[in-house]
Amino acid sequence: MSAPKKLFVKTYGCQMNVYDSERMAAAMASDDYLKVASAEEADLIVLNTCHIREKAAEKVYSELGRMKPLKAANPDLKIAVAGCVAQAEGDEIRRRQPMVDLVVGPQAYHRLPDMVAGRAAPVDTDMPEEDKFDHLPADTRRRRSPTAFLTVQEGCDKFCAFCVVPYTRGAEVSRPVAKVLAEARDLVSRGAREITLLGQNVNAYHGEGADGRDWSLARLIRALAEIEGLWRIRYTTSHPNDMDDDLIAAHGDVPALMPYLHLPVQAGSDRVLKAMNRKHTAESYIRLIERIRMARPDLALSGDFITGFPGETEEDFAATLDLVREVEYAQAYSFKYSPRPGTPAATDNQVPEDEKADRLARLQALLSAQQAAFNVAQVGKTLPVLIEKPGRNPGQMVGRSPYLQPVHLDCAADLAGQIVDARIEAAVANSLSARMV
Ligand code: 5AD
Ligand code: SF4
Repeated sequence: MSAPKKLFVKTYGCQMNVYDSERMAAAMASDDYLKVASAEEADLIVLNTCHIREKAAEKVYSELGRMKPLKAANPDLKIAVAGCVAQAEGDEIRRRQPMVDLVVGPQAYHRLPDMVAGRAAPVDTDMPEEDKFDHLPADTRRRRSPTAFLTVQEGCDKFCAFCVVPYTRGAEVSRPVAKVLAEARDLVSRGAREITLLGQNVNAYHGEGADGRDWSLARLIRALAEIEGLWRIRYTTSHPNDMDDDLIAAHGDVPALMPYLHLPVQAGSDRVLKAMNRKHTAESYIRLIERIRMARPDLALSGDFITGFPGETEEDFAATLDLVREVEYAQAYSFKYSPRPGTPAATDNQVPEDEKADRLARLQALLSAQQAAFNVAQVGKTLPVLIEKPGRNPGQMVGRSPYLQPVHLDCAADLAGQIVDARIEAAVANSLSARMV
């Protein structure tokens, strides 16, 4: 019997890449590849990449540069570039970095084992009709962490003018309800207590149900909430125009659906929103938030913002700050606009780099202050915390509040996977510290 080969996977970017990396590792495990924690000992390195902003894409090439000595030390080492850079750049990657052996786009992961074994072409950026998940073995680790990701929808048809996702992940596709429910039951049977449903535009979910009809995300969530042992459900990420009435209602009447919503708005100026092809206004977004908060008053909101979109004036940017002040976010992500090749906005009149950066700094100061205020507001409350894993200090464990805040507390390690009541004692940086009650 030959010794198992060793696989090292490095994941960049979004949670969907984290999920995909797990599935690729499971596929390679069927071919006797064991996952290892360092690139140095690997026979196969997979870089699962992100193309959303220029910086993210460039990171891959610097990482490849650093890996050169490994290739020299081990001539049998194979390096695969997966993910959205693979999809966007295809064989160009091997021209720029000839030490790359394989290039595999997000819709071709089920072919990775054949590619590695030399039974399939080394570059595959097809977007086949078949469902890759039908051919990718499930993650079969016997026990798993209390929190899990589950991809239910992939791709996007929205074509926001700044975004590469519709090109790298392709058209929007929803997985059938039965497959999602089966995967969720399997995750729960192996210890998952919280599942985050993933999709680039997850609230546009419309998977086929057993009745042959398309189910909405709300209907899917209601069915998942029936699974015994599944205590918490989350979903990310959403488009404001796909928040239907039933999904809003679910935030009020499905106890397992956590009071946290990531609902990107991108900008607060209607002129910019129109140029972004967002198809909503600042006003319609604010009204929508009001309706969701009516259903679930303690909802913690998160969002994404872009500063310095082409043509954005100081006045436009002021409208973004106004919107943030009005909405009050518990948490948010914000970025300088980064022109992406092939997207409509990339060729429009660009905002100077220093202005983008200045606006980003001002926006982030406001968002950080709101996040701190939200965290401080929890002090003194008792919150149910799902314990996940050991913390940094001995005896300490880390879990999450319903609002997705990391919570540090002292408790027994075997409480991992349990929900404990914790009294919040302090807000520190981006997390909370608490005491078990
Ligand atoms: N430049 C900057 N930020 C971007 N995002 C997407 N494309 C770009 C881009 N070209 C941000 C959006 C999106 C998040 C995932 O990344 O805010 O919601
Ligand atoms: Fe990109 Fe999201 Fe817009 Fe789709 S909805 S194009 S994923 S920003």
